[in-house]
Amino acid sequence: MKDFLTIADYSSESLQGLLDLAIQLKEEWKSGGNKPIFKNKVLAMIFQKPSLRTRVSFDMSMLHLGGNALYLSPAEIGLGKRESIADVARVVSGYVDVIMARVFDHAHVEELAKWASIPVINGLSDYNHPCQAMADALTIYEEFGSMKGLNVTYMGDGNNVAVSLMHVCAKLGANFTIGNPEGYDMPESAIELGKQFAAASGSTISLLNDPHEAVKEVDAIYTDTWTSMGQEEETKKHQQVFPPYQVNEALVAEAKDNVIVLHCLPAHRGEEITDEVADGPHSRLFPQAHNRLHAQKAILVHLLS
Ligand code: CP
Ligand code: NVA
Repeated sequence: MKDFLTIADYSSESLQGLLDLAIQLKEEWKSGGNKPIFKNKVLAMIFQKPSLRTRVSFDMSMLHLGGNALYLSPAEIGLGKRESIADVARVVSGYVDVIMARVFDHAHVEELAKWASIPVINGLSDYNHPCQAMADALTIYEEFGSMKGLNVTYMGDGNNVAVSLMHVCAKLGANFTIGNPEGYDMPESAIELGKQFAAASGSTISLLNDPHEAVKEVDAIYTDTWTSMGQEEETKKHQQVFPPYQVNEALVAEAKDNVIVLHCLPAHRGEEITDEVADGPHSRLFPQAHNRLHAQKAILVHLLS
């Protein structure tokens, strides 16, 4: 039974295979459209939190491949509240071919996968965001032709997006650095896994608190919101702690001349990233968002083949 819940579950070879497939599907789509290989296939999209990119890119991925997608809002399903996760998983498994779920608690997407008899994709949990990481890797790969030996720095909160980015970098041979305030580290267990993957691919993991040191000699700077969905009560505190980690023109100037800037979006412009950087020459924010489509088509093809 195949699922896509974490980057950590996939080997370096499988991840590279997914990237190659994403590039192939992107080329096919650009030169007239994808083949309708998902005729009569349906994806159920279960959301506990809001979304623009994940919802639309998964919907369009299915459509471009000849299938369909159903959007199930937080209010409709009441995952674990109106009905147990195990029951939702078993009911939905009888109607559709694949499930994508965006949940608060990572254990909930694992529970869905445990009970579903069809593949389950993690569309963001409090622990990680593996679909995003595949689009990030695709964007970096397209820019530099490889991930191997590149220096990628994530600036800000050691959150879900940081964890998946660290793991995809470590698996594909890029050196990963995080510059985060004290007390906003990634989970220790995720760091340990990252170090194992990096050791296997010959890359490094660096955990820094100094934002200036963190961007020295880097090829890609990545940032994300200072406050993730579900932590809204921390917003004011984070607005006091995180400003030294803002990705602005002065910080970008400390990196390599051809550095690219990435952000999973949605951005809080003027907080973690300035308008000048988000809309400037180093930004790859929108190609990165568009790459969700191609990376997820590859994940769907892998799971439904
Ligand atoms: N990056 C991302 O997952 O965006 P959404 O929250 O809009 O889906
Ligand atoms: N870290 C953010 C990512 C949103 C795509 C969040 O969890 O809200």
